[in-house]
Amino acid sequence: MSDKKESRLEQIESLAKKRGFFFPSSEIYGGVAGFYDYGSNGTLLKRKLENLWRKYFLGLNGNFFEIEAANIMPEKVFVASGHKENFVDPTVKCNKCGTVHRADHIIEDCLKESFEGMTPVELTELIKQHKIRCTKCKGELGDVSILNMMFSVQIGADLEVKAYLRPETAQGAYVNFSRQFEIQRKKLPLGLAIVGKAFRNEISPRQLTTRMREFTQAELQIFFDAEKINEHEKWNEAKNYRLILYPVDGREKNPIEVTCEEANKNMEIPKFYAYHLAKVQQFFLEKLKIEKSKFRFRELSAEERAFYNKIHWDIELNLESVGWKEVGGVHYRTDHDLSGHGKVSGQNQEIFFNEKKLVPHVLELSFGVDRIVFALIDLNYIADEKRTVLKLPVAVAPFSAAIFPLVNKDGIDKKAEDIYENLKNDSDVFYDESGSIGRRYARADEIGIPVCITIDHQTLEDGTVTVRDRDTTKQERVKIDELKNKLT
Ligand code: GAP
Repeated sequence: MSDKKESRLEQIESLAKKRGFFFPSSEIYGGVAGFYDYGSNGTLLKRKLENLWRKYFLGLNGNFFEIEAANIMPEKVFVASGHKENFVDPTVKCNKCGTVHRADHIIEDCLKESFEGMTPVELTELIKQHKIRCTKCKGELGDVSILNMMFSVQIGADLEVKAYLRPETAQGAYVNFSRQFEIQRKKLPLGLAIVGKAFRNEISPRQLTTRMREFTQAELQIFFDAEKINEHEKWNEAKNYRLILYPVDGREKNPIEVTCEEANKNMEIPKFYAYHLAKVQQFFLEKLKIEKSKFRFRELSAEERAFYNKIHWDIELNLESVGWKEVGGVHYRTDHDLSGHGKVSGQNQEIFFNEKKLVPHVLELSFGVDRIVFALIDLNYIADEKRTVLKLPVAVAPFSAAIFPLVNKDGIDKKAEDIYENLKNDSDVFYDESGSIGRRYARADEIGIPVCITIDHQTLEDGTVTVRDRDTTKQERVKIDELKNKLT
């Protein structure tokens, strides 16, 4: 990583602390690597993102619903899902200082290439071949071994029940599928979404909130009839939409743009899958206002993809601070999970649908909420000699407007409070009366508030206020009666 990139990461870290976006958890005790808390502004941003996600993805189909499932699940769930056996990361220990590193990361940092999916023997070989040393003490590294990333917990007075903190929200949807299928009147496709915490004992948490040990996922499991994988009832809506794809066999080139129809015909991407790729891309480009050049779907090879996936394209964003970063994935998980649960629980997950028996297949749309929050801050953070500003899309900005009384006297403060009271039920408004107007603008810019409304002496005379636009810094006089419309 270059110095320039590192310094941007540091700039984001200080802005996040200063303006209450995020900071290390339990910091007064020194913190624990991989755990972060969100402050007031970060929480607002994160909730808005989650709600935007809910509205958009649950809105794709009348048979998509959100559920809430437990964070702690019994061991058998993860035996069935395959996480007990396969959810492992390669680790390597320094023979001198004893530090344990994530083997593929330490090699990646050194050779600037991705080594996901390699076996411990292959990684050990690479470390030896390139003489890679411990990043802490320069000591010699041992052989690569594997470590399960799940946090185990013991439940009950005698700690008799073995369980795990869920490493993905997805399993909550699978264990509830058969009940929800009955409740939703036995229709497919059925979508079950969960927005909640996932826990992984990451060996090397890093890059602030992008690799944590406790993080939030927003995942939608779409259960469908596998025989219908090459159709979608709204195919016509998506077939001409141009996807930005970075396939395995084109890694040395730039991403390509192809229509969903071309992806289906020439790249064997099933229609059901391609339709959802289009919807995911539209979410990032149209709702989160991510520039096209900063977005791509990256295909994973058979060795790289997660153990449960048959087709796997990651959603990647090109961040200013750390380069291309995976923020989610579109996963064709087949009947891997439901069949696994059927076997281990002894409760057959077969359903009767369209006059036949079947175990539904699953298309998973998986998103890392914290990584997307981080990406929104990273991509919209502008610091130049004039000012620091977070040009967040209006839909996720912590507040829609800030209200400033020019002075706290002459009835101006009273008028400003009235305006605040009048607007606060329909918009998220922020009242700030302290410091010069210049300082208040600077504060609002750093929080990403799109509009600042200043109440001054003229307001008392003609009922207008000054409205300043965050991005252009242009100011205009607007009638108080028109503010509601302007903000909504
Ligand atoms: N259910 C599928 C699943 O969990 P994943 O690729 O392991 O797939 C999905 O995780 C997303 O969760 C990732 O794309 C990433 O955005 C986010 N994520 C994964 N590990 C994370 C971590 N340690 N810290 C923050 N976000 C993480």
